[in-house]
Amino acid sequence: MAVLDQLTSQQAIDLENKYGAHNYHPLPVVLSKGEGVYVWDVEGKKYYDFLSAYSAVNQGHCHPKIVGAMVNQAQTLTLTSRAFYNDMLGKYEKFATEYFGFDKLLPMNTGAEAVETALKICRKWAYEVKGIDENEAQIIVCKNNFHGRTTTIISFSNDPVARKNFGPFTEGFIKIEYDNLQVLEEALENNDNIAGFMAEPIQGEAGVYVPSEGYLAAAKALCEKHNVLFIADEVQTGIARTGQLLAVNHENVQPDILILGKALSGGAYPVSAVLANDDIMNVIRPGNHGSTFGGNPVAAAVAIAALEVVKDEKLAENAERLGKIFREELAEFAKENELVTLVRGKGLLNAVVINDTEESETAWNICLKLRDNGLLAKPTHGNIIRFAPPLVMNEEQLRDCINIIKKTITEFKK
Ligand SMILES: Cc1ncc(COP(=O)(O)O)c(C=O)c1O
Repeated sequence: MAVLDQLTSQQAIDLENKYGAHNYHPLPVVLSKGEGVYVWDVEGKKYYDFLSAYSAVNQGHCHPKIVGAMVNQAQTLTLTSRAFYNDMLGKYEKFATEYFGFDKLLPMNTGAEAVETALKICRKWAYEVKGIDENEAQIIVCKNNFHGRTTTIISFSNDPVARKNFGPFTEGFIKIEYDNLQVLEEALENNDNIAGFMAEPIQGEAGVYVPSEGYLAAAKALCEKHNVLFIADEVQTGIARTGQLLAVNHENVQPDILILGKALSGGAYPVSAVLANDDIMNVIRPGNHGSTFGGNPVAAAVAIAALEVVKDEKLAENAERLGKIFREELAEFAKENELVTLVRGKGLLNAVVINDTEESETAWNICLKLRDNGLLAKPTHGNIIRFAPPLVMNEEQLRDCINIIKKTITEFKK
């Protein structure tokens, strides 16, 4: 077989199984093309994408404006490293900082790298601005968090599969219950070594847990009171996904440090970023941090185009409107179908909880049937299915999808 021969689904799966590390458990479907809200498998079957590459493809697959910017830049200049200036990075930094309302941006590539960057900035700020003694800084994080896969990040995960046999772990993190202001207050009080509090505005991977209304604003106020940085990890919730540009905007919160990834490129290219104001970001000086690819001209061009699409096509407004329809319809359906316990979420980041145990295969098996019926989604955890389509979906398509989901679950037999 020549390397670029067209494969069947089974051949592609066999190749990955034999030659790739087994660090994922994909749904058995092999995709070879995408456009807008649709993807096609290698046999030509068409599906609605209801995962959007974990909310990276908010702008839809292969958006022509984003792909156009990428191709154009790729034919001009791809990478200089930061050893030299390039003529795209500054334009992008100006555009993105004005777009999100911060003084400065630090460009990286993946979400996990951006989280690492934010933690480093926070610690450095703690020593050089707040005045915490060297190596004493602590950062508060939440139970059931998901911030990526590096050694430091899994150090404060409580997912046993992500952690087992990867120690020793990085110190300096205090884990508290999510959506509980009292424990946050207790953790902040009587401890002068707290540098930051990092949270996801909605816990995505944990199963789309939406905190109580007012939690984020109150948490930010507590951080201000204790001179602690509020770090929002909006890698999954950001960029219009939840019906606002950022999920913290629902509560008019401006984080001290904002972490973005995924949809910052519309899924075209790995682009992530950390944003903060000068009083925080200026602790970073030459040699403190970096990445060969971070801030490359292709990433800059792609991110500008991706952010323009979000505003031009009013994706936040669309997510807000369609999300309401989705939750209303499925909440109604849950009343009459005993397999669906509840639906929750914000904008077009939603989850349906299946009436079975965490360990059961029911949600996975429903996703296989959804696939057969032309819609791709995946369980986040055991019995929870996340539904997060590209935000360029229209109402007719959404209603079509709701019908597929209802029909599939109605006909489902364990
Ligand atoms: C909230 C959050 N932070 C960080 C990450 C890590 O991003 P990446 O997979 O690009 O490293 C993710 C990925 O799902 C995420 O959901």
